[in-house]
Amino acid sequence: MIQAAHNLNVATSAAPADRPLAVLCRGVVKDFGDGDTRIRVLHEVDLELPAGEMSLLVGPSGCGKTTLISIIAGLLEPTEGDVTLFGTPRASLSQRQLIAFRAANIGFVFQQYNLLPALTATANVAIPLLIARMDREAAFARARQLLEQVGLADRAEALPATLSGGQQQRVAIARALVHEPRLLVCDEPTAALDAHSGQTVMELLRRVAVQPGRSVIVVTHDNRVFGYGDRIMEMADGRIQEVRVADGSFPERVAATASAETAS
Ligand SMILES: Nc1ncnc2c1ncn2[C@@H]1O[C@H](COP(=O)(O)OP(=O)(O)OP(=O)(O)O)[C@@H](O)[C@H]1O
Ligand SMILES: [Mg+2]
Repeated sequence: MIQAAHNLNVATSAAPADRPLAVLCRGVVKDFGDGDTRIRVLHEVDLELPAGEMSLLVGPSGCGKTTLISIIAGLLEPTEGDVTLFGTPRASLSQRQLIAFRAANIGFVFQQYNLLPALTATANVAIPLLIARMDREAAFARARQLLEQVGLADRAEALPATLSGGQQQRVAIARALVHEPRLLVCDEPTAALDAHSGQTVMELLRRVAVQPGRSVIVVTHDNRVFGYGDRIMEMADGRIQEVRVADGSFPERVAATASAETAS
């Protein structure tokens, strides 16, 4: 059950007509296994997420959250149905084009961070830029900027093992944002964090990644952060059961918090 920190109005999943869609899912089905062991994990999921929002995906363990966001992010193929991201249908892309589209437009924060242990925080963050063949010096300079944005300028040369869980999570977020993806997908980014660090991460995501034309999807079990979402999608047994849209009070609160921080 949702216990939001601010008022949520039950609404349809339809996005406001005045904003472009970041994500459109139509009839997305996912089956795993073959023959007798075949199981249906997603049942014809329809979803419309407007650009410029943070959407939260919540629901019990095993209900299909990671599967759904992996399909949205183009990491997993749907069995049926299609996903359209910023007007580009997945089905219209070849495998090669999909990889390029993903590299240019999507950032993914994995639950287990997936940092490379032998590389410094800066080098970890620079990876997407190096893969995109950016000059090494420029990539490292940009990576350091991102680390500064997530409050880790002083740990830029640290190895992951010497960072706290929350700091590693922020490095993973910086890495997912370094190429300014239009869609950032985060799987349980606050699960391993205490309440304060969890809120810091959510505020960071809102400040850096939620902008006109850019969207964030956050999978979370953590009801302490429900108040950060513009919409909350409640999932059960492979279906989106309900979409609740926030009353709009939160973005103003974040803006106020951010300007208070800048002022101090
Ligand atoms: N590669 C796979 N092969 C077979 N079954 C899978 C595979 N991946 C996931 N599943 C099954 O699909 C269902 C949904 O899994 P998923 O990881 O999407 O759940 P989740 O909602 O993210 O759960 P959690 O909150 O525990 O992370 C589960 O029953 C899981 O066992
Ligand atoms: Mg999961």
